[in-house]
Amino acid sequence: MKHFRSNIFNPISPTEVDFLADHVLSFDAEKIHAITPFANFSGAWEDYREHIILPGLIDLHVHLSQYRIRGMYEPALLPWLKEHVFPEEMRSSDPDYARGLSQDFYRALLKRGTTFSVIYTAPFRQAADIAFEVARELGIRAKIGMTMMDMNSPEGILHSTDYALKHSIELFEKWDSPNLGYIFSPRFAPTCSETLMRETGKYAAEHKAFIQTHLSENIEETRWVKQLFGQETYTEVYADYGILGPRTILGHAIHLADTELDLLAQSGSNIAHCPDSNFYLKSGEYPLKRMEDKGIAFALGSDVGAGTTLNMLYHAKQMNFRQSELPVLPAQMLYSITLGSARILELQDRIGSLNANKDADFVLLKPPQGFEIGMHTLSQVCFLSEDFEVSKIFVQGQDRTVEG
Ligand code: GUN
Ligand code: FE
Repeated sequence: MKHFRSNIFNPISPTEVDFLADHVLSFDAEKIHAITPFANFSGAWEDYREHIILPGLIDLHVHLSQYRIRGMYEPALLPWLKEHVFPEEMRSSDPDYARGLSQDFYRALLKRGTTFSVIYTAPFRQAADIAFEVARELGIRAKIGMTMMDMNSPEGILHSTDYALKHSIELFEKWDSPNLGYIFSPRFAPTCSETLMRETGKYAAEHKAFIQTHLSENIEETRWVKQLFGQETYTEVYADYGILGPRTILGHAIHLADTELDLLAQSGSNIAHCPDSNFYLKSGEYPLKRMEDKGIAFALGSDVGAGTTLNMLYHAKQMNFRQSELPVLPAQMLYSITLGSARILELQDRIGSLNANKDADFVLLKPPQGFEIGMHTLSQVCFLSEDFEVSKIFVQGQDRTVEG
């Protein structure tokens, strides 16, 4: 058992955070044993009084296969996919490339304080297996899915409907577990046939599996979807083909009519909001207030490679910066990179906040020299994350700190 004397910020809801000043976090090889005010604690302890502790951060939408093309710019989604994403994802057909990339990606996640992420890999069976194997080797927790695309994609990255379905189902059967789960990942409607979407939706519903895809990120994309499938709206395509539901996570969700919000709300679907990516690709501004008014659950994704960094605290800052009128507060910023995502993933009993019997997934951050620690530190870490050092990271009680 270890006992860390420190200061804990614990998310409760989008509007509430507990600040536990000078408490002792006691944990063993897997779980949190207790969180005790120092005044009531007796025994030996390690001194982290000059640090703050946050629950391990969660990235709800990230493309492992795009880690190395961050910052390669095109001014809109579709040309960016064509020029940079598809050629880069093709390189992961080489298992050596896929392995090196997975190692670099997971180390970078740990360096930034992320303990759980929801990942798209390149559309190759072997690249997905490698992503799981390397995650297991490094103690990473994640839901991982092989990107599926069976139309409108260049040679080399395009697969048959059968390939996409067969390998996704095999990967689900092989890897799905609480620490490393499988998530079915049809890329987005323009590259997925009706059959692929229907079969994926059906299988996932029957097996209580998660699905992720992209929805209404860009205006050109929405026009293309209308042309391809004929439905009045983009969301109706996913509704008609069985993709929506409480275990579905839709990336972006920007350009939506009220009728579409109703479909999302009625189906209990969830959104991965990716503000950095949305302004990088000039996709648009997330309708945050409208989502809240409809009671649609959302939390934050980095969307690397359209997102520029894996640092989830930076994305929390962008969540505030990318609302032109709505002042998003630090409690909601923290919630959206921790407990909010855990709830969407149905893992709130294990991760997302720090309580006795939950998993010991947490990060120790050191404020800049001379900064006093208090309730105000939450706001500072949300807006100044680059100035806070990630000193240590623990995943299920194991020290996974990456040096250098
Ligand atoms: N839409 C379909 N594929 C992608 C992708 O890889 N990244 C983003 N941002 N949007 C997408
Ligand atoms: Fe994405």
